[in-house]
Amino acid sequence: MNNLYLEHFDRDTFLSEYWQQKPVVIKRFFPNFVDPVDENDLAGLAQEAEVDSRIVSNTNGQWDVAQGPIEDFDQACKGQWTLLVQGVDKYIQDVAPIMTPFNFIPHWRLDDLMVSYATQGAGVGAHIDQYDVFLVQGKGKRRWRVGKPDNYAEILPHPKLRQIEGFEPIIDVVVEPGDVVYVPPGWPHDGETIADSLTYSVGYRAPDNLQLAESLAMMLDRGEAQNRYSDPKRAPQRAPYLVSQNDVTALKLQLINAINSDDFTLALLEAMSEQGIPEYPLDTEVTLQQVSNEFAAGISFAPAPGVRALITEGKHGLPRAMFVNGTQFNFAKTDSEWFEALASGNVLNATCCQDAPSFTFLKTLTTLLNNGYWEWYEG
Ligand code: SIN
Ligand code: CO
Repeated sequence: MNNLYLEHFDRDTFLSEYWQQKPVVIKRFFPNFVDPVDENDLAGLAQEAEVDSRIVSNTNGQWDVAQGPIEDFDQACKGQWTLLVQGVDKYIQDVAPIMTPFNFIPHWRLDDLMVSYATQGAGVGAHIDQYDVFLVQGKGKRRWRVGKPDNYAEILPHPKLRQIEGFEPIIDVVVEPGDVVYVPPGWPHDGETIADSLTYSVGYRAPDNLQLAESLAMMLDRGEAQNRYSDPKRAPQRAPYLVSQNDVTALKLQLINAINSDDFTLALLEAMSEQGIPEYPLDTEVTLQQVSNEFAAGISFAPAPGVRALITEGKHGLPRAMFVNGTQFNFAKTDSEWFEALASGNVLNATCCQDAPSFTFLKTLTTLLNNGYWEWYEG
């Protein structure tokens, strides 16, 4: 297997040859990388109840896992340890530039940014993830080994730690700040820390059938695209215990029709935009009039950390709409520029587009501000 180390990154080559196919090391993907957070920021987040964090430690071969919120760091940080914090992009705006260069993969596939701090010699052990990940090396140095997918023996050195045994590395590399290792789902990997190290994991998601079926069930539960089996003018059959292929086909078709309905399209789009971000409604709601005045006065707005909107363009059976964390906002074709400016995640103000913003746009912005998905930008 050649070319597992890239000196120069090319998006098209990456998509056609590596994404979901094989791992690759991209040296100096971020030139002059500067860490936007440090271990103290991570420790601060790990104390919060709503943040998903854990400390994995190894003391003379004895593994332990402390699940966050972490109250006693002295107790949890023993031996060689790694502090891992999930969803850092939802709490710290400054980490966003680490995810931006991977924008060639659409936002709906993106899950979150996990950041870990590992001490010399530490790691979480050899394991397999079900999702793609770009491992961005921050400060420090780490040795990553990546092997081929196979049926490896799984070991549980601790009830909360899944590891595997005995993979042969096809990649064995020491990474430095700004280097990236891409690992597709199912490829075993192991990161051993050479010098106290920060690792930023840009993690993806890919729904399985059960998750898709949950969207279907949710839509049907709302009474949309609901239908019941019926069989007028049945053909007579030889015996009552026989099941005909026609009947099975009709049952499957009933479900296929529900899946092909516009309502299911919307349920899917809602699920694709769902980020599990809690609403933080404003204490005092702003009115459309206030937002219009502020917008006209040149005030700027930006999405709250981690909020990533999706847009469908009203083509090929899809609606024209914006979706934010499971909520749909329709807009007219003439509003496309303004809604795309919103969904771009960039700082937004009256100078962003040529045309004046419409009532629909300002109303949407007002709603987004009121539920905490967008904020006033103080550059
Ligand atoms: C880590 O940051 O130590 C673990 C990342 C991973 O292997 O998925
Ligand atoms: Co992993």
